[in-house]
Amino acid sequence: FDDVAKLVDTEQGFISREIFVDPDLYKEELDKVFTRAWLFIGHEGLIPNPGDFYTTRMGEESVILCRDKKGIIHAFLNSCRHRGMKVCRYEQGNTSIFTCPYHSWTYTTDGKLQGVPQYRSLYDGQLDRDANSLVAVAKLAIYKGTVWATWDKNAPDFLTYLGEAKVHLDQALDCRDGREGGSEVIGVHKWIFPSNWKFAAENFLGDTYHNPSHRSVDLIGIGPSAASGKKGRRDDELEKAQHVWISFPEGHGVHSAIQPENNEYIESFLDNPVLEKYFRYCYEERKRRLGEQARLMPFVGTIFPNTSYHGRQPRGLCAWHPHSPTTTEGWRFFLVDADAPQEVKDYLRHYYMRYSGPAGMTEQDDMENWLYATSASLGTVARRYPFNYQQSLGAWTREHQSLGGTVSVQITEEIARGYYRRWKSYMGGGGWDELLGGNDGLAQRAAE
Ligand code: FES
Repeated sequence: FDDVAKLVDTEQGFISREIFVDPDLYKEELDKVFTRAWLFIGHEGLIPNPGDFYTTRMGEESVILCRDKKGIIHAFLNSCRHRGMKVCRYEQGNTSIFTCPYHSWTYTTDGKLQGVPQYRSLYDGQLDRDANSLVAVAKLAIYKGTVWATWDKNAPDFLTYLGEAKVHLDQALDCRDGREGGSEVIGVHKWIFPSNWKFAAENFLGDTYHNPSHRSVDLIGIGPSAASGKKGRRDDELEKAQHVWISFPEGHGVHSAIQPENNEYIESFLDNPVLEKYFRYCYEERKRRLGEQARLMPFVGTIFPNTSYHGRQPRGLCAWHPHSPTTTEGWRFFLVDADAPQEVKDYLRHYYMRYSGPAGMTEQDDMENWLYATSASLGTVARRYPFNYQQSLGAWTREHQSLGGTVSVQITEEIARGYYRRWKSYMGGGGWDELLGGNDGLAQRAAE
């Protein structure tokens, strides 16, 4: 495709199916999107001690996230500088050295080449060890325990990249009682499904239009409209809240809600005094700490390009790792308040397993949609017809400007349009000013 821009018409609201199935576009995407954008690669709580490592992914490539012996966190390509063998074949563990299984070059936990068998006789002292360290990411950021990285040395710092979506992502990362950070990973789900990675990323941008897919889980009380378990509740805060769908110029998108003023805690766990006490405490403490800001209720969002979050239950982050144009590996990192009572953690762990991940009832509904949408878009005839993204064109509002971005108070595909507008900028090799949105948001408002 000579002109990727023609495949994505965000003004009229049409996007070619080719961007979800074409192998050449997919290769280009790995090169132009995944080597530049900031990617979520793990949580520092997974590597608490010196020598701890966790193998993660950036695009299709294996990356070692490691805490060196001084306690500093690094991320480097899991590929030996000699012939490329994976120097670490485990998912997680602790080591003082990475020994390549092929010819036994060894690397320290900060990625430096240390040992080269028969160095004096075979390399005659010529091999420059410093120049043959494991390939480190260009930039790494730790934000409220989560670890992010980019291969682009010219990328802006992570918070600039996050922009005004920060306040929404924070809701997924902070404790339920309003304290900053303080979350721990209670488990990670990893599974592979036959779909393009963008279907999953787009779904979390705030596509609440797909909620009919989850009717069965709604009926039994664990679906999107019943995030804390609807049974036994005396009210429904979701119906009273003002819902907002927000597109950010960096390509991120979120769905959040604002509770009415003077909203009261809703009893939710009448059959379990420990849970009831904890969630009531969190609600009241959060209100005390955050004031007005506590009215913001997080739901879901996607940080461009492939990191999604759930801000309520199941709270946590998901990375959608590409494997091929039609194959994705989903990783869900589930979070809980580190100092919550064990009974609360156990309840949430069970809830998360029931709700999300490969066996979770809600995720199964979503995956059916993503995988059939992918396979049904592979056909010769199907590929002639673009997807329709015209929903709520121009339906943004000037209310809630404190939330940042372009806000809509009705369900809108403006978030998806914004996401693909940015995807197009990356595919066109745009500079960072353009990738951060330039004046997109302002220009759109001025045009209205
Ligand atoms: Fe690693 Fe040869 S490939 S030492």
